[in-house]
Amino acid sequence: MSGVSVRPAERRDLEAITALYNHFVENTAVTFDVGAFTVKAREPWFAQFAADGPHRLFVAEREGAFAGYAGSMAFKAKKAYSTSVETTIYVAPVFAGAGVGKTLYERLFSALGREDVHRAYAGIALPNDGSIRFHRRFGFKEIGTYHEVGRKFGRYHDVTWFEKRL
Ligand SMILES: CC(C)(COP(=O)(O)OP(=O)(O)OC[C@H]1O[C@@H](n2cnc3c(N)ncnc32)[C@H](O)[C@@H]1OP(=O)(O)O)[C@@H](O)C(=O)NCCC(=O)NCCS
Repeated sequence: MSGVSVRPAERRDLEAITALYNHFVENTAVTFDVGAFTVKAREPWFAQFAADGPHRLFVAEREGAFAGYAGSMAFKAKKAYSTSVETTIYVAPVFAGAGVGKTLYERLFSALGREDVHRAYAGIALPNDGSIRFHRRFGFKEIGTYHEVGRKFGRYHDVTWFEKRL
């Protein structure tokens, strides 16, 4: 898509990143956080990412406007899991379906291809057909479902996990 650029996230992006994430926290069950974050409260999350290594964070802009972010995080803390990451991606609703997510994931997986990362995982809270289609398109394969593993807005949600070989 023309006009979309992706670059490594910087601290100055955290306000826009947090505002976008809060939109999904407050209005949807695609994430199981239940209360909006302040930018300061989101700093420990931001601190897990680096300019190199397996844990990266990228932001997308379209004609100068913040359009979304994608990142890779530790899958689990125990050391032998260090070759696996969990990915995260959020695109501003106004830009959904316009190639922003694709551009972000292409950049993220290009970066991870140069790192010692063997598997990527995405946990998708149901229903989220768009995210399932999107992750399948990037080579993620369904591996299983945790049934009614979370409750948000008064109802239980399944989470289906997807795996990508790198
Ligand atoms: C899911 C999400 C990341 C996709 O990003 P996007 O910028 O909208 O997707 P793109 O326009 O780059 O689409 C890339 C591919 O995914 C597919 N896709 C994306 N959204 C889709 C949808 N809602 N329904 C069907 N397919 C979809 C497209 O068909 C496209 O495939 P193509 O290139 O072969 O045509 C984005 O819509 C989003 O942030 N959704 C809300 C938050 C969320 O669910 N995050 C993931 C939590 S697990």
